[in-house]
Amino acid sequence: MLLLNVHHTAIAVENLDESIDSFRSQYGVEPLYREIVKSQGVEEAMIPVGGSHVQLLQPLDLDTPVGRFLERRGEGLHHIAFQVADIDSALTHLGRQGARLIDAEPRVGGGGHRIAFLHPQVFGGTLVELVEVK
Ligand code: CO
Repeated sequence: MLLLNVHHTAIAVENLDESIDSFRSQYGVEPLYREIVKSQGVEEAMIPVGGSHVQLLQPLDLDTPVGRFLERRGEGLHHIAFQVADIDSALTHLGRQGARLIDAEPRVGGGGHRIAFLHPQVFGGTLVELVEVK
């Protein structure tokens, strides 16, 4: 299994507009795209940082995973996403290693990429996402 890149680092935010504005004013960068991902209960913005990205996540309402995260812990690091070449074989490999998978099968995430989440137990208490870039 090959980890190609840190595809993005995701930060949960209360207000996506304000967070985009602060990236714009502090670093002079614009999001590559902004998208509502209903299946994950978020609106997200992908901000380019060198060869990687910062993903800003604002929950669509309080009763979503990111909404509950904000309520519990406030704004901050939500997950880290590793880019893999082949997400199916990565999940098979990790399953064989006994890793706890949140998604046994990939689903379609922001940007139309295939993604899957691993339980925070797998990696130092940090929620990990695998991304296969289409
Ligand atoms: Co993500």
